[in-house]
Amino acid sequence: MTLILIDRPRRAARYLLHCGLHTFKEAPCTTSFRRAIALTAMDIDAMAPPAELRALALACLTEADPDAKVAAVTAMAAAWRAGACTLDTGANAAAAASAATSAAAANAAAQSPPAIPGRPARPALVHPRMLGQRSMATLEGRAMLIHALAHIEFNATNLALDALWRFPDMPPEYYADWLRVSAEEATHYAMLAAHLRQLGYAYGDFAAHDSLWEMVHKTRGDVLARMALVPRTLEARGLDAIPPLQAKLGQAGDAAAVAILDIILRDEIGHVEIGNRWYGHLCRQRGLEPYATYAALALQYKAPTPRGPFNLEARRQAGFTDAELAALTAD
Ligand SMILES: [Fe+2]
Repeated sequence: MTLILIDRPRRAARYLLHCGLHTFKEAPCTTSFRRAIALTAMDIDAMAPPAELRALALACLTEADPDAKVAAVTAMAAAWRAGACTLDTGANAAAAASAATSAAAANAAAQSPPAIPGRPARPALVHPRMLGQRSMATLEGRAMLIHALAHIEFNATNLALDALWRFPDMPPEYYADWLRVSAEEATHYAMLAAHLRQLGYAYGDFAAHDSLWEMVHKTRGDVLARMALVPRTLEARGLDAIPPLQAKLGQAGDAAAVAILDIILRDEIGHVEIGNRWYGHLCRQRGLEPYATYAALALQYKAPTPRGPFNLEARRQAGFTDAELAALTAD
């Protein structure tokens, strides 16, 4: 049972009756102008107007606290599954979200950290070359690696949320896909952060770099560039990187981390597949040849050149064509 303070108890009571809620009780309150109404949590859910998915995603994106972000993303995904969200794919929703973003950005101008993405004050973000070496022979070195992976997953949660709220006029399945990615990335972050705590450290204890988010920011104006260069370029590198990391962690005796990376690799194949699928959709929609378009976008946005060894089987499962895989290994 929850108490809600209201200023106009009679109007609220009429509204609750209108909503079909007959179980509320008025309760005494501290001022003569306000009353408390006792409601069950179920009643509150029934009262709330349907939330719009892309607006919810933006709210999750601006959340700075990692644990709160994970909880918010999980709740958003559950609400969507329960049919408690609407979806507005139109530009109006994007404009409303942009207005909220501008307000949040203005608000953040005098504050730190910035509103988009919401993230904690730590870890400090530095150039990749400033990051120290990780030795798997020490607990600290292993914790540094787990921390780096947790940071990637935290950023990946943000990039999925950004893909979800920012781009209008995509098919409904696009938004459902990126909602799924955001929920899975949040789970990945939570698993790694929990493992890091077991090692005696916390997210924020080491410096990190911001390369992933920098590409998200650069591609904010075009969903085609976003799909080309974030999921199917930067996230695809994760498919290549995970098996060697698992070998290192396995040699260091960290079976728990290896098991977490098994889950992450399985899910990341799906995320890259989503990127590939929507990249193909957008190329067809715009009448573009996908290979030449990708090459042009990689040049325009200064995407990093993929470096082997490549996890060709995972990339194949993620939807890269034989021609693309052959081009990777020929370079
Ligand atoms: Fe992930």
